[in-house]
Amino acid sequence: MERRIARILYIFIILALINEMSIAVQARDNNKRRSKEKTGGFQNNICDITDRDSKVHCYCENTREPRNATKAECWVFNGGIPRDDLIWQSFASQPNLQTLSFNVRVDGALGYVPTKALQYLQRLKSINIKYGNIVDVSSYAFANLTNLKEVSISQNQIETLQQYAFAYLPNLTVVNLEDNMILEIGKDSFFDVPKLQKLVFTKNNISAISNGAFQYTFNLLELDLNKNNIFHLNRHTFDGLANLRKLDLRRNRIYNLTEFTFAELWNLQELLLGKNELKYLSERAFDGLSQLRKLSLDDNKLASLPSGLFEGVRGLSSVDLRSNELHALTFDNIKPILDNLKPSGSNLQLEENNFVCDCRLQWMHILRNETKSQNTKDSLESVTCKMDPPIVSSAYNKMPDIIINTNQDLLHANSNFEKIAKINVTDKKSDEIKDMVNEINVKKAVKRNVLKIPPEALPCPAETKKTTEIPFIVDPVIPIQNEMKTFRYQEMNAAHNTSFVFGIVLWSVCFVFFFT
Ligand SMILES: *[C@@H]1O[C@H](CO)[C@@H](O)[C@H](O)[C@H]1NC(C)=O
Ligand SMILES: *[C@@H]1O[C@H](CO)[C@@H](O)[C@H](O)[C@H]1NC(C)=O
Ligand SMILES: *[C@@H]1O[C@H](CO)[C@@H](O)[C@H](O)[C@H]1NC(C)=O
Ligand SMILES: *[C@@H]1O[C@H](CO)[C@@H](O)[C@H](O)[C@H]1NC(C)=O
Ligand SMILES: *[C@@H]1O[C@H](CO)[C@@H](O)[C@H](O)[C@H]1NC(C)=O
Ligand SMILES: *[C@@H]1O[C@H](CO)[C@@H](O)[C@H](O)[C@H]1NC(C)=O
Ligand SMILES: *[C@@H]1O[C@H](CO)[C@@H](O)[C@H](O)[C@H]1NC(C)=O
Repeated sequence: MERRIARILYIFIILALINEMSIAVQARDNNKRRSKEKTGGFQNNICDITDRDSKVHCYCENTREPRNATKAECWVFNGGIPRDDLIWQSFASQPNLQTLSFNVRVDGALGYVPTKALQYLQRLKSINIKYGNIVDVSSYAFANLTNLKEVSISQNQIETLQQYAFAYLPNLTVVNLEDNMILEIGKDSFFDVPKLQKLVFTKNNISAISNGAFQYTFNLLELDLNKNNIFHLNRHTFDGLANLRKLDLRRNRIYNLTEFTFAELWNLQELLLGKNELKYLSERAFDGLSQLRKLSLDDNKLASLPSGLFEGVRGLSSVDLRSNELHALTFDNIKPILDNLKPSGSNLQLEENNFVCDCRLQWMHILRNETKSQNTKDSLESVTCKMDPPIVSSAYNKMPDIIINTNQDLLHANSNFEKIAKINVTDKKSDEIKDMVNEINVKKAVKRNVLKIPPEALPCPAETKKTTEIPFIVDPVIPIQNEMKTFRYQEMNAAHNTSFVFGIVLWSVCFVFFFT
C-alpha cells in the first residue's frame, strides 16, 4: 500500500517538473522572438508579423515569402505610430508589392501618409488608405514612385494638400480624395504628374481654387468637384485643362458665372452645374466650349437666360434646366442648338420652372413635333406655364376653346379653396391668415400645360416684345390688419376683371370663407 502511494507521488512530481520545464522553454522562445522584432524591425517580414502587439498587421495574398508578395492588405490597430517607426522599415521586406491598402481600425491610428514605408516599394502601382485621420498630405508624400498609378485616400480628414503633395509621379493616373475636408486647391499641390487623368474631390469643403492650380495636370480628363463649397470661379481657375472631358461642379454654391470661365476647356464634353445657386450668367459664360455636348443647370435660381448664351456652345445636345425660376425661354435662346435637339439621343429638360404662358414658348410646339427624342417629348409635354388672371381674360376674348380647359383647372382650384376655407379662421393668428391669402393668390395664376395651349393662342403681351425681358408679374400685397375687408375688396376686383366663370368660383369661395 505504502509503495503504491509512493509511486503515485513520484509520478505527480515528474509531471509537475515536465510542466515547469515546458513553460520555461516557451517563455524563452517568446523572449527571443520579441527581442528580434525590437532590435531589427528591418528584418521583419511585413507579411508574417507574429507579434500580437504589433501596431500594423498585413495579409498578403498568395504568399508570405520575403520579397515575393505583390498584394498586401494592412490593418492599423494602434495610434501614435511615429512617422519613422521601425514598423515602416519592415516594408522593405516586400519590395515587389504592387497593391497596398491600409484599413485604419482605431480612431486616430494613422495621421499621415506612411512615406517611410512607400519609399521601399518601387514597384507599387496602387495605394489605398481608408478611414484614417490623415489631416494633411505633405510634400513628396508618395516618395516619387515612378510606377505609382492610383492613389486613393478617401474618408480621412485631409484639410491641406501641401505644395508638391502629388509630385514627380510620372505614371500617376487616378487620384481619389473623396470625403475629406480639403479647404483649398493650391497652386503646386499637383506638380509633374503628366499622366494624371482623373481627379476626385467629391464631398470636401473646397471654397478656393488658386489660379493655375491645374496647370501641371494637362492630361486630366475628368475633374470631380461635386459637393464642395465653391462659390467663385474665374477665367484662370481651370487654366491648363485643355484635355478635360468632364467637369462636375454639382452641389456647390456658385451664384455668378462670369464670361470665359471655361474658355480653356476646349475639349470639354460634359459640364455639370446642377444644384448650385446660379442666378447670374454672363452671356459669354460658356464661350470656348466648342465640344460641349451635355450641360446641366438644374436646381439653380435662373430667372432668365441671356439670349446669346448658347451661341458659343453650338454642339450642345443635352441640356437640363429643370427646377429653376425661368419665366421664359425664348426661341432666340434655343435657336443655336435647336437642330441638335432633334436626334433621338438628345435631351432637353425644362420641368419645374415659372414659365409665363405667352408666345415666347411657341417653339416648344415645333420642337415637340420634330424631335425624335422621347425624353425631350416627355419633358416638353409636362412643362407648365402660368396664366395671370388679366392675361387669361384677354385670352378668353380671342380663344373660346381655352375656357373649357381652364374651367377644369378652376374646378380643381376650387376644391383647394374649400379646404382652406374649412379651417377655423377665428382662432388663427394673422400670419397664418396671410399665408392662406397668399396661397389663394398663387392659385389665381392658373397653371397650364404649355403644349395644351394651341401655339397661336399663346398671347403676346405688349411688354414682352423684347423677348429676353422678364415679364411683370402681378403680385398684390395683402395688408395684415383688416384682412377680411381688404381681401373681399381685392377678390371682388379680381372677379370683375376675369371671366364670368372665374367670378362665380371666387364669389363662392368668398362666401364659404366668410360664413363658416
Ligand atoms: C515566388 O512566387 C512564385 C509564384 O508566385 C514562385 O514560383 C516562386 O518560387 C516564389 N519564390 C520564392 C523565393 O518563394
Ligand atoms: C522627389 O524628387 C524631388 C525633385 O527631384 C526631390 O526634391 C525630393 O527630395 C524627392 N523626394 C523623395 C521623397 O524622394
Ligand atoms: C510607367 O509604368 C510602366 C509600367 O508600369 C513602366 O514601364 C514605365 O517605365 C513607367 N514610366 C516611368 C516614366 O517610369
Ligand atoms: C468648411 O470651411 C469653412 C471655411 O471655409 C468653415 O467655416 C466650415 O466650418 C467648414 N466646414 C466643415 C464641415 O468643415
Ligand atoms: C459677377 O461677377 C463679376 C466678376 O467678378 C462681377 O463683375 C459682377 O458684378 C458679379 N455679378 C453679381 C450680380 O454679383
Ligand atoms: C404638330 O403636330 C400636330 C399633329 O401631327 C399638328 O396638328 C400640329 O399642327 C403640329 N404643330 C406644329 C407647330 O407644327
Ligand atoms: C372655432 O373656434 C371657436 C373659438 O376658438 C370655437 O368656439 C368653435 O367651436 C370652432 N369651430 C370649429 C368648427 O372648430
